[in-house]
Amino acid sequence: MEIFTKLRGMRDILPEEIGKWKKIEKIFIEMSELFGYREIRVPILESKNLFVRGIGSSTDIVMKEMYEFKDKKGREVALRPEGTASVVRAYIENQIYNKEKISRFYYYGPMFRYDRPQRGRYRQFYQFGVEVFGGKSPYFDGEVILLLNETLKKLEIIDITFLINSLGCKKCKELYVSELKNILLKNLNSLCNECKMRVEKNPLRVFDCKNENCKSFLKSVPSIIDYICEECKTHFEILINFLNKNNINYKIDNSLVRGLDYYTKTVFEVMTEREDIAIAGGGRYDNLVNDMGGPDIPAVGFAAGIDRIIPFIKNERENDRIIYLILLGEKAKVKGVEIIKKFIKEGICFEADYEDRKLSDYLRIASKNKKKWCIILGENEIEKGVIILKNMEKGVQEEIKEEEMIEKIKEKINVEDT
Ligand code: HAM
Repeated sequence: MEIFTKLRGMRDILPEEIGKWKKIEKIFIEMSELFGYREIRVPILESKNLFVRGIGSSTDIVMKEMYEFKDKKGREVALRPEGTASVVRAYIENQIYNKEKISRFYYYGPMFRYDRPQRGRYRQFYQFGVEVFGGKSPYFDGEVILLLNETLKKLEIIDITFLINSLGCKKCKELYVSELKNILLKNLNSLCNECKMRVEKNPLRVFDCKNENCKSFLKSVPSIIDYICEECKTHFEILINFLNKNNINYKIDNSLVRGLDYYTKTVFEVMTEREDIAIAGGGRYDNLVNDMGGPDIPAVGFAAGIDRIIPFIKNERENDRIIYLILLGEKAKVKGVEIIKKFIKEGICFEADYEDRKLSDYLRIASKNKKKWCIILGENEIEKGVIILKNMEKGVQEEIKEEEMIEKIKEKINVEDT
């Protein structure tokens, strides 16, 4: 018989781990809402062309990593490899620019890239992202960086560094790219075959190359920052001042170009001391809305890789709030249903096992599954009108009158779990 296993690069997130995920999601949502961002939910499946146009036809994501296929009507579709292009599409399609001058969105969900799986790199991974539309001031760049920094601080991820660079506006970028192309054309021998193709199609993408020879050659080419105009320079300086004033740990990295074509001016990535992979990345994309058929509206945002943040988070013990109901015998099971109804009304989490087992077996299961609280109910207790509440961690138990049960349980759980 065929035993099914998950596809390469995909993961199951099991209940014992889910507390960490929920904690990260909760804090990202709370912090984003604190900063005035509202949730937007966009489809996971979009037209393939949205990403080709949005992210860039010669990026690695589009050329090598998209999960793309034809639907039953022969339309070319793709699983989203990132969120920005979809949010831009939704912003234009719903004409949100007619409703408000500045729009702030956050989104969360799975993204798909057919990349080579390795530590911290999956084919289905989760991003929490934010996008702000309508603001060209560098303070918007500062705001999204501050939001990300504060959120990571709240998650107790210290030792982070923002790598930061400016790619300049469309004009600066064009000037640099033509200069870069000239340099690369004169040095084709120093480049790998893939980069030779990049020179023709999209020279800036040579900076994505992982080949050591290419990387060391690229150290000798001038940086994009030397080509940016006065306005872009001022934009960058104001942002740097903002970072200094807000004690954000950053390092200017003039080799940072990011792997997506839409960026202009500010680009950034968040690195940690522990790992050599970015836990988040983002930047400004002032031309994308217009390039995708919308009005001329600037934007900036970031996306954090939740899978890469998980290893930094201590496990949350969700079990602690769930009361394990041990119902010994038929009468106790009937009574147990009454108790469950009260719990539902009062919002107390419970878990019952309706199989016929001995008390010792129940207790073994409870301690194996790290249950903190148990209620034990047998014929004796029913006759006396009580229940037994047992704290498994401390190994202590007490009899509680049935009518005082809810109040006592709430009190105990709140006091002993905080
Ligand atoms: P990105 O740098 O491609 O940017 O992805 C953002 C983050 O997603 C990365 O820093 C990383 O933490 C995580 N990530 C990316 N690929 C994988 C993977 N294969 N496995 C696990 N985690 C991964 C974007 O996606 C842009 N849309 C960000 C943005 C929003 N720029 C402006 N607004």
